[in-house]
Amino acid sequence: MRVAGRLAAEVLNFIEPYVKPGVTTGELDDLMLNHIEKEQHAISACLGYHGYPKATCISVNEVVCHGIPGHLKLREGDIVNIDVTVIKDKYYGDTSKMYVVGGHTSERNHQLIKCTQEAMYAGIRTVHSGSNLTEIGDAIQKVADRYHFSIVRDYCGHGVGSEFHEAPQVLHYRNNFDLLLQSGMTFTIEPMINAGTWKCKVNKKDGWTATTADHQPSAQFEHTLVVTDEGCEILTLRDDEDFPRLLNNLKN
Ligand code: MF3
Ligand code: CO
Ligand code: CO
Repeated sequence: MRVAGRLAAEVLNFIEPYVKPGVTTGELDDLMLNHIEKEQHAISACLGYHGYPKATCISVNEVVCHGIPGHLKLREGDIVNIDVTVIKDKYYGDTSKMYVVGGHTSERNHQLIKCTQEAMYAGIRTVHSGSNLTEIGDAIQKVADRYHFSIVRDYCGHGVGSEFHEAPQVLHYRNNFDLLLQSGMTFTIEPMINAGTWKCKVNKKDGWTATTADHQPSAQFEHTLVVTDEGCEILTLRDDEDFPRLLNNLKN
């Protein structure tokens, strides 16, 4: 899991310099697939997953998740989530982050991205052996409420390990899905937060692309983590993050 997580995170670093105005999402996907297969000797978990046609998900502006890479050209000011899941030696690593094309976007978009990353970290800070899964949704909800943004309810985090999506479902909003966490459990926290309504709709033609119902922007961050006695270890942490890999959440 550590190896798979490190590789997934490394794909997000690798692609960063290519996320520029004028590039198409299909070109980015090709670059990442090549990197995963030829450099990492790993497998894209997305390609062929329930018929998904590409190696990664690239979700631009009002696309909430599962954006299918294609002919869309990125433009200055677009906010883009790239979600990468790799399989290495039978284990999965799943992570995503936001990119701002050209580095500048609206203040509201910057706030949305900041809120979503903070919300993910707040969820992560609740995790330890003996904590309740519901604490994650509580923590994320508090952050989203403070920013007056809304949390997507149609998609959730998930157990991950030797399969892509395992139990439990990890809800990102306040909920009563009680489950006591135990050391060694591995799952994702991946809040999708919308500037406007939390409601989404899935593209009927492709069956995948989820957009906000009101076409306002959406942001997402995702990490894979493992529960430890006193906190958790983030298996997909990157160097550009100002956040520890190993957390002691008992003292919080
Ligand atoms: N990586 C996504 C997740 O975080 C799932 C993508 S499934 C795909 O769970 F088929 F759309 F790639
Ligand atoms: Co995931
Ligand atoms: Co993912």
